[in-house]
Amino acid sequence: MNDLILITGASSGIGYEMARLLSARKFNLVLVARSATKLEALKRELEARDGIQVHIFPCDLGQPQAAQTLYEKVRQRGLDVTMLVNNAGVGVYGSFSDTDLEAELSMIQLNVSTVVALSKYFLQDMLVQKRGRILNVASLLSFLPFPYYSVYSATKSFVLAFSETLTAELEGTGVVVTTLCPGPVDTAFNTEAMWKTNAYKANQPVSPAAVAEQGVQLLLTGTGKKIVGFNNWFISQLPRITPSAIMMKIKKNLASQRSS
Ligand SMILES: NC(=O)c1ccc[n+]([C@@H]2O[C@H](COP(=O)([O-])OP(=O)(O)OC[C@H]3O[C@@H](n4cnc5c(N)ncnc54)[C@H](OP(=O)(O)O)[C@@H]3O)[C@@H](O)[C@H]2O)c1
Repeated sequence: MNDLILITGASSGIGYEMARLLSARKFNLVLVARSATKLEALKRELEARDGIQVHIFPCDLGQPQAAQTLYEKVRQRGLDVTMLVNNAGVGVYGSFSDTDLEAELSMIQLNVSTVVALSKYFLQDMLVQKRGRILNVASLLSFLPFPYYSVYSATKSFVLAFSETLTAELEGTGVVVTTLCPGPVDTAFNTEAMWKTNAYKANQPVSPAAVAEQGVQLLLTGTGKKIVGFNNWFISQLPRITPSAIMMKIKKNLASQRSS
């Protein structure tokens, strides 16, 4: 059976670059994001360039029923997804007292509930086939909850915990779950306010193509979790040797906006 890979958040950034890399390796793709125009353009380009099949499903995965509707539409078209990349995600930055509740609840829906629901639906089919792979995109912040990213950090801690426990539960079933944990990446994810924080000066964002390459390797042949870049791995280890109160002060400073 040929593999068919579904990628959420394929219209830009890491998901877009993963789609391009997987297409170049001749995988057929199912691409999901809100922007129909961008997905259509990518479909046309990849089908012409690589001779693969690309199926697109524009939808808003920040809506409560979106994962179920997407799964049903994919099945109705007779598509057997063998690999799932839960990549779509957004971030909300700012003091929790000031940030928009609606934006945060929608982020929890997209970053958490949709990841759980899509994993639940597609996993059942993978278990029947006794093969499949799920890659969840978490973050460096999964290990290091940052002030001013309070709800976002919590969503990514959730993704890591969910993903790692699933990995263990599914041992021996033929289904492998992996977790990609990038540090800062130069994508549309970052708002102007985020770019002005000390963290982005101290830890320069890397290209989405570089992160996508790591993601593709992890998806196709990897196991467990992958923190992208040695510097980010080192940063993820700091809580082990730094008292938590000091660590939180450092993180608060890093997440604050530069004065100049
Ligand atoms: N950039 C970073 O610094 C960084 C660091 C660590 C982890 N990450 C994680 O990496 C993942 C990918 O982010 P990125 O950096 O590649 O950002 P990006 O360029 O903004 O891409 C996000 C993708 O998600 C899609 N998306 C957003 N909201 C959606 C919704 N409601 N329904 C369906 N699709 C939606 C976007 O497409 P549409 O707008 O067309 O819907 C886009 O394709 C996220 O999970 C993010 O948390 C990013």
